[in-house]
Amino acid sequence: MRLCLLLLLALCGADPTAAARSHSLRGSWSIRNANGSLELPGEVPGCVHMALFQRNLIQDPYYRFNDLNYRWISLDNWTYSKEFQIPFDISKWQKVHLIFESIDTVSEVLLNNVLIGKTNNMFRRYTFDITHVVKALNSIEVRFQSPVSYAAQQSRAHTLYQVPPNCPPSVQEGECHVNFIRKGAF
Ligand SMILES: *[C@@H]1O[C@H](CO)[C@@H](O)[C@H](O)[C@H]1NC(C)=O
Ligand SMILES: *[C@@H]1O[C@H](CO)[C@@H](O)[C@H](O)[C@H]1NC(C)=O
Repeated sequence: MRLCLLLLLALCGADPTAAARSHSLRGSWSIRNANGSLELPGEVPGCVHMALFQRNLIQDPYYRFNDLNYRWISLDNWTYSKEFQIPFDISKWQKVHLIFESIDTVSEVLLNNVLIGKTNNMFRRYTFDITHVVKALNSIEVRFQSPVSYAAQQSRAHTLYQVPPNCPPSVQEGECHVNFIRKGAF
């Protein structure tokens, strides 16, 4: 499992001929797991495995059976957070959008402690209107739920009929209920 996101803040001017301005939220973010036992810096775009690897908290996840040793990473919930300033005067702009070019996968997005949107599909771009929430100085939090626990939850909630298979053959060492989440199978 990988958590990847890229954010772009787009501002559209009151004058329709005015070019939209944008401010990228790429760069250093802060990452923490559900119970706060791990807190570390991480890059966006990027993912939790990469951040842990760069801090020597895990070894190469592609080496031998490390993917199985590091299964706990995909079973935990991870929050990305950051504080940022808008480098231009937002009062001059009619609309402000927060755009995720890519986000993997299940998350709640909070801006200045206000829930502004949710995501559950890795294969699309998300745009949230943040005109009434954005300030000159902001805090953003992206709370990812474990894709494994989300898929299991969705499967339990779906009682009308069976959607096989529940789990892959055990020899594959894969996760269950992949057909309940819109996410890359890696
Ligand atoms: C916190 O979460 C980590 C990773 O899931 C786990 O190994 C650890 O036991 C947890 N600590 C507490 C105090 O629950
Ligand atoms: C992750 O979040 C889900 C949904 O809120 C929750 O059911 C689960 O217990 C959480 N897992 C951890 C490790 O905190």
